[in-house]
Amino acid sequence: MSHDGFRIGPHAIAPRLVLAPMAGVTDKPFRILCKRMGAGLCVSEMTTSDPRFWNTAKSRHRMDHEGEPEPVSVQIAGTEPEVMAEAARHNVEHGARIIDINMGCPAKKVCNAWAGSALMREPERVARILAAVVAAVEVPVTLKIRTGWASDQRNALQIARIAEDCGIAALAVHGRTRDQQYTGVAEYDTIAEVKAALSIPVFANGDIDSPEKAAYVLAHTGADALLVGRAAQGRPWIFREIAHYLATGTRLAPPSLAEVRDVLLSHLRHLHAFYGEASGVRIARKHLGWYARDRPEHTLEQRALFRATVNRADTAHDQLRITADYFDALVAGEPPRLTAAA
Ligand SMILES: Cc1cc2nc3c(=O)[nH]c(=O)nc-3n(C[C@H](O)[C@H](O)[C@H](O)COP(=O)(O)O)c2cc1C
Repeated sequence: MSHDGFRIGPHAIAPRLVLAPMAGVTDKPFRILCKRMGAGLCVSEMTTSDPRFWNTAKSRHRMDHEGEPEPVSVQIAGTEPEVMAEAARHNVEHGARIIDINMGCPAKKVCNAWAGSALMREPERVARILAAVVAAVEVPVTLKIRTGWASDQRNALQIARIAEDCGIAALAVHGRTRDQQYTGVAEYDTIAEVKAALSIPVFANGDIDSPEKAAYVLAHTGADALLVGRAAQGRPWIFREIAHYLATGTRLAPPSLAEVRDVLLSHLRHLHAFYGEASGVRIARKHLGWYARDRPEHTLEQRALFRATVNRADTAHDQLRITADYFDALVAGEPPRLTAAA
């Protein structure tokens, strides 16, 4: 294995950059895009382990992996070992080649059912869930955790050892406790401690938003790979930028405005095709906001006006036209051209 990659079971993955699972964001169009932009692996959005919800449009979209680059990693969440085992089997039948278990999510919906990071308070249940899922499927099973439930209950190391004992193939650690939600800053000392104690691959996660930060977190933690979440929103090329910096120690030039425009327009078309026009246009809005946020060439007011205008578009045609006009103006170095949706 080259120094810039790592393994999860039989899968060789390079570069050592993973798109972190984000519900409502890391759908198939976004995963394919991030792969193309240099991510080594993209983890899908969390799918429920409750079979009653597997036939909803949302679950069907989340379980659709047609045309997705291998290996497909699918995240599951839940609290009952046998239900989780069944969910893992079901996802493998639908194309998953890696199963990722979510014990890192602070979301209420998950925590009320004592899934997500709340499970870290029950190490014995964690062991039963992990053992059941590992036994249920042939494919490698990975786990994602936080550093603990609260700053005075930082038991990542205990959970990490349980994970390794249960046959987990790789462990991702987000450097926050559950009670921090997404506030404060991620700390990397606990991740370094976990990495030093384990022999399975450990991935560091939290607040990695630049090539320099990525290099720092890798060096500080000794981690085998990095998970990047929010920094990839509207900036999928961050993966190639980080990979280039890790390989050469120099910064890759940012994408040209013409490339940003083309990436965005193709992303929109893919969303429209994947979800159908009405849902695709709605889901595309948050991505549009993220891409526009990072364009300092236009003033704050101009960007806000673009968002307001494009958010009123409710057909794929109008959404694409308004976006293309706005980005064409950026490319031409002109003030934005904004004509409202018909
Ligand atoms: C909108 C959103 C949705 C998320 N959904 C999930 C999820 O479904 N499963 C999970 O394990 N983590 C989820 N996370 C947490 C991320 O995977 C990641 O751990 C966290 O955002 C910290 O990484 P970052 O600082 O690079 O964003 C989510 C985060 C965000 C912002």
